[in-house]
This record gives sequence, C-alpha cells and structure tokens, in this order.
Amino acid sequence: MNVSRHRRLEMVVRVDAIDFQPLETTAKVDGSFMNETAVSPILDVQGLEVHFGPLSDPVRAVDQVDFQIFPREIVALVGESGSGKSISALSIANLIPRPAGRIMGGKIFFHPPSPEGSGVTGALEILGLNDSELRKIRGEKIAYIFQEPATSLNPVFTVGWQVGEAVRLHRKGVKVKAEVGKLLADVGLPDPKHTAKAYPHELSGGMQQRAMIAMALACDPDLLVADEPTTALDVTVQKQILELLVELRDTRELSILLITHNLGIVADVADRVYVMNNGKMVESGETRSVLTNPQHDYTKKLLAAVPRLHK
Ligand SMILES: Nc1ncnc2c1ncn2[C@@H]1O[C@H](COP(=O)(O)OP(=O)(O)OP(=O)(O)O)[C@@H](O)[C@H]1O
Ligand SMILES: [Mg+2]
Repeated sequence: MNVSRHRRLEMVVRVDAIDFQPLETTAKVDGSFMNETAVSPILDVQGLEVHFGPLSDPVRAVDQVDFQIFPREIVALVGESGSGKSISALSIANLIPRPAGRIMGGKIFFHPPSPEGSGVTGALEILGLNDSELRKIRGEKIAYIFQEPATSLNPVFTVGWQVGEAVRLHRKGVKVKAEVGKLLADVGLPDPKHTAKAYPHELSGGMQQRAMIAMALACDPDLLVADEPTTALDVTVQKQILELLVELRDTRELSILLITHNLGIVADVADRVYVMNNGKMVESGETRSVLTNPQHDYTKKLLAAVPRLHK
C-alpha cells in the first residue's frame, strides 16, 4: 500500500463528516441581521492597522481589519502563524507591545452589554481612552487567557490566592474566599477548597488552564479573549476546555473571541469565524457556511490542512 498517499487522503477534510452542533446564536451577521431585534455588537473593530518595524518600511501586522463580536457570541479568529491574530486581539484592549508596535489607524468600539453601575455607559472608543480608563476596561470588562498557563499563573502563590487577588483588586465588597470557591467550581475544578490550596505545579495542564480561566473570570468580564487556549493540551483535554468555554458563555453571558490556527476545533464551538492571512481579514461568516462552503483559497487551504474535523 502506498502509505504516504493513504495518509494524504486521510488529511483531506470530509465536510460531510463534520458533526455540527446546533448553536444558539444571539445575533447573526453576514452583512445583515437575520432576526428583527437589532443587537449592538459588544465589540466593533473598524479599519484596524498595526505596524511593526521601521517607519519607512513597516511590517503591516494588521492591515485594515474589521470585525465584530455580538453579545453571547463565540467568534473564532483563525489563520496561520504570523497572520496577525494575536496582534488583532491585543489591540482590543490597546495592549500592543510598544515601542515595537504602532497602531496606525482604526477605531475599536467597545459596548458592554450591562453597563449599569459599572461607571461605563454607552460605547467606548478604546484607542481614545487614557491609561486609567484603559486599566478599568482591562481589569473589569475584557479578560484574556493565553496558551501557556505559566505566563499567567505565578508558581510561588497558591491557586486560591491568585484567583482571590483578582477578585480583591477588581470587585470591592465581594467576599473573596466564597467567590474563589465559586469560581473554581464554575471552571470545573474538583474539590475547590482543596484545589485553592494547591500550587500551580501540583495541577495538570488542563487544571492549570481551568485555574487561569477562573482568574480571567474573577473580574466578571463581558468579553473573554482566548488566544490559543488549548494548543498546549492533549486532544481530550482540549475538547473539555472548549466545552467549558461554551458553558461559560451560556452561564455567564460572556462574549468570547477564540483564537486558533486550527479550523478543525471551531466547528463545535464558534458561531462565526473570521479568517486572517498576512494581516488581512480574507473571509468571514457563520461557521457552518465558512467550513462547508469556503470562498477564499486561503480558507480552503486551511481546511485541507485539518487532519480530521470531527471524530
Ligand atoms: N513583538 C514584535 N516585534 C516585531 N514584530 C512583531 C511582534 N509581534 C508581532 N509582530 C509581527 O506581527 C505579525 C503578526 O503577529 P501575531 O503575533 O499577531 O501572529 P499570530 O497570527 O498570532 O501568530 P501565532 O499563530 O504564531 O501566534 C508577525 O508576523 C510579525 O511580523
Ligand atoms: Mg498568536
């Protein structure tokens, strides 16, 4: 048997094999709303342009990019390494590494769905905020989780202390210990009391990732940005973490931007998909339509690189 040919055939995506889960999409976009209730996006990025390198010959890491996220929506941002996913995501909270990076243009409107009592009203233009306004948004409205728990978890403090610190900092008046227990339970960590006393190295990779999600949720954000949150995990744990994100979207009314280079994992979780290539947004649409009927050659190429979209 020609093994390499056999392998290659296995790599071809069988779109009819994708097991699409019905998703409750709160808002549908494809140029227009499909329901009659007009819903404002929680995030509306318009014409974002981010450069690196010399002024005279910059790298256009993000090149005139537009995207939106609606309340309770899970939006996937996919593309190969270096396509501009993380830089787009970091721009949302104006976190571009400086002075290396420069935001050269665009607007980022952030419209928290429940601004009452938050001191924040209406839509904010993130790129126009001062440092103290930005700190408030970063701490209380937009939270990030990254691929490596090690970048967010401190090895010398217990998990409970670290989650508690985020609660103490951002949610005055909340009973810290009780809230930590609740957060650890919410992210599916077993025996929250015991886990709270553990140090990060005493947890498995999947548990560390859950602890990191608990930290991100500690400030009760409206938007969670998950940058490759499962890449370092094995396939089974990956699936569990993605299921957790879907559950948290439902129970906490979160909007989620899920960044991945793997189109295969978005089929079950994302309502909509944006595809980035070389700093540009080349395709977007509802997940089913992008996966079953990709329009752009680059999306077709990404799909062809997915070993198996579903079991
Ligand atoms: N700190 C930096 N210094 C210089 N250039 C950078 C820096 N960070 C990003 N870039 C540039 O921006 C481009 C996009 O980077 P970005 O991190 O957004 O890619 P990505 O799509 O997240 O890739 P990956 O899947 O590998 O995480 C890179 O190709 C690089 O040219
Ligand atoms: Mg990245």
